[in-house]
Amino acid sequence: MRIFAKELILQEVSNERFIKIPDEVQEAYRRGLRPTPLYRAKRLEAYLKTPAQIYYKCEYLSSTGSHKPNTAIAQAYYNKAQGIERLATETGAGQWGTALAMASSLFGLKCRLYMVRVSYQQKPGRRTMAETWGAEIFPSPSNQTKYGRSLLEKDPNHPGTLGIAISEALEDTLSREDTRYCLGSVLNHVLMHQTIVGQEAKKQFDMIGVYPDLICGCVGGGSNFAGFSFPFMMDKLKGKRDTEFIACEATAVPHTTRGTYTYDFGDTAEITPLLKMLTLGHGYACPPIYSGGLRYHGMAPSISYLINKGHMRPVAYEQKEVFEAARILAQTEGMITAPETAHNVKYAIDEALRCKKTGEKKVIAFNNCGHGLLDLSAYESFLAGKLVEYKPEKIEVPRYVS
Ligand SMILES: Cc1ncc(COP(=O)(O)O)c(C=O)c1O
Repeated sequence: MRIFAKELILQEVSNERFIKIPDEVQEAYRRGLRPTPLYRAKRLEAYLKTPAQIYYKCEYLSSTGSHKPNTAIAQAYYNKAQGIERLATETGAGQWGTALAMASSLFGLKCRLYMVRVSYQQKPGRRTMAETWGAEIFPSPSNQTKYGRSLLEKDPNHPGTLGIAISEALEDTLSREDTRYCLGSVLNHVLMHQTIVGQEAKKQFDMIGVYPDLICGCVGGGSNFAGFSFPFMMDKLKGKRDTEFIACEATAVPHTTRGTYTYDFGDTAEITPLLKMLTLGHGYACPPIYSGGLRYHGMAPSISYLINKGHMRPVAYEQKEVFEAARILAQTEGMITAPETAHNVKYAIDEALRCKKTGEKKVIAFNNCGHGLLDLSAYESFLAGKLVEYKPEKIEVPRYVS
């Protein structure tokens, strides 16, 4: 209760199949955010000469450029309804932080962001967006918390990690009565807010009499993929459909392909409760890949469970190959996607090419969950042939519960 708004904790442990979206949240969603279109990528299909059909849901059309406002708006609303005045959170690439800054401004809340230092320096545009929406934003580790100061003493240029930024936001929250913490991924209530994406997509597919055979999505903490796929997963678990689900991650942060399914902390300073998840260990030093949103050591417990049970399959890709896929998408469909999303674009393209060989008319769907217009330095490195690949050789995960 001291960390999250009460209603969000109730949602976290709820057994209800559906939870009604409050009118105020629906009203905020309608302000240029929802519904988002579902597009068929006909030009991409033609370029690949595939018999497969490729569809994508356009979450990049939100005012902040990604799917993150779906949960930011809901979390800001429930905090406001409880009388909370100020929100604190971490942000990696800045998509989540800007979404919470925007949602806080809609509901008249103060907002404090701890942004992973390396991204803070790489992405001044995200800082400006957050400040325009009235948020305070600090590079993490920061001099604003005890934990941040202790890290800066050892290394004044510490690049930061998402785990450290979470620890700082939690320390901030616990030091002030008027503040609650918000998280942009991983937890059940966040994933549940995102399922509006899949619910909407299901209706849109219904309208054209199509049902996807394969759904792929990129996974950082798991929220956009869960949001898009869980409403379809429900049909699979009931035995109504046999859809394939593919979670796409970065080779540099292989939490779903090489992680251990065990209990681990969600943050670096070990403040959070232990979560049962696929994890690389909360001390894992995520390499500085351009897909900042995929740099997290753990995976949502619900996605970890589904992967562990074999209902979802994980794959990992290197930086260069995902940017190649993003370039094909840009040159056929006209949109520049986020580096994170490029991971599932890569899978969709490869699968469509497999279908070309087999003649399968598979329906492939993915969540186009962010645009890359504030990630142009990543595209610049790619175009200049300067991308560096990272593949951890050995991963040691401490085991808390055997
Ligand atoms: C565009 C985009 N895609 C994906 C992610 C990964 O997060 P999640 O797995 O929670 O969707 C992020 C996170 O910041 C993001 O900004």
